Amino acid sequence: MYNVREISPQIYWIGGNDRRLEQFENLFPLTNGVSYNSWLILDEKTAIIDTVDDAVTDQYLENIEHLMQGRELDYLIINHMEPDHCGNIENLVRRYPDVKVVGNKKSFQLFDQFYNMDITENQMLVGEGDEISLGNHNLKIITAPMVHWPEVMMNYETTKGILFAADAFGTFGALTGNLFDDEVDYKNLYLDESRRYYANIVGKFGAQVQSVFRKISSFKINMICSLHGPIFRSDLNLILDLYDKWSKYEPEKEGVVIFYGSMYGNTANTADALANKLGQRGVKDIRVYDVSKTHPSYIISDVWKYSHLVAAAPTYNMGLYYPMDNLLHEMAALGVRNRKVAIIGNHSWASAAQKIMTERFSSMKNMEIIGENFDIKSRLKDEEEQKLDDLADVIAASVLEKTEE
Ligand code: FEO
Repeated sequence: MYNVREISPQIYWIGGNDRRLEQFENLFPLTNGVSYNSWLILDEKTAIIDTVDDAVTDQYLENIEHLMQGRELDYLIINHMEPDHCGNIENLVRRYPDVKVVGNKKSFQLFDQFYNMDITENQMLVGEGDEISLGNHNLKIITAPMVHWPEVMMNYETTKGILFAADAFGTFGALTGNLFDDEVDYKNLYLDESRRYYANIVGKFGAQVQSVFRKISSFKINMICSLHGPIFRSDLNLILDLYDKWSKYEPEKEGVVIFYGSMYGNTANTADALANKLGQRGVKDIRVYDVSKTHPSYIISDVWKYSHLVAAAPTYNMGLYYPMDNLLHEMAALGVRNRKVAIIGNHSWASAAQKIMTERFSSMKNMEIIGENFDIKSRLKDEEEQKLDDLADVIAASVLEKTEE
């Protein structure tokens, strides 16, 4: 059966939900699926904005057939040529052979790389500021390169103030029948997943997100339609303010994320003892993760949220314990910066982890190493407690100094 909803007069959500997918991009675990949003405008002219992933093709085509009632499709606007959104271009061109497929040079290059269909005759090239009039509605093209791929565009519908934002402002998590932010408990149901989506998918491209903010700063925006997750129509500032912070790599909150690697529980013991000491010094909302247990995307999400990090891991094969090595590699690739970091190594006969972690964090922008790095020899002993107290003093003072400002 069709499954659509009018989101504004003549504009419909026609997307689908995938709750079976285990990992987004075959990388990021999904606990409650993901939505692929697509939009149909039934005006004097008809337009579809982006398509959906192959996984929901049947539902998608049924939705379109139900609403189109035999009309022709005039425009298929492709804001993002990544397969989770362009998986049905071929199907739509086959059904509507005269449709104008709207994109830029890079969009069509990518289409040709991913697919075998020749759509040269259908192509309509657009660029910054171009407008497509549909009758009552008018779509202005905003280029948004690298949010999250180089061809990305957004559309600003000028009569209603609707921003079709491609991946931006999206989230993991399927839709629940409540399509709008004011119909769901967004903060409880989606916010953590939205941050995890941002940090891991878009996080590297903060400067490009800021560039889009500059472009849209003069627009009156009443609704934001992302390609994943709910539509914002009530509390737009919630997500706009967070995106501004996230893309400037500013922490949302003063607080500590401790992540450790531990083979036999000894580094874990030190991490837990440090967390306990921080708690006793008044630091609230501490997060502690075992890097061998928790998927890096969750830890990176909290790295984006909090101001202070503690990394603790043993030496392994004269290098850094692999899961920590991988996590720090991902953090560097995503451009993590502007955090205060404390480092604890562990070794039994030859020390490398502490030095490597120090080098890794030092290679990231504006990462300040605080406290005295120290290196455990196999297991921290009670008589060495002072070292941990000294580190806890420094971290707690640094966190609380800002909290109390
Ligand atoms: Fe939802 Fe960049 O694709």
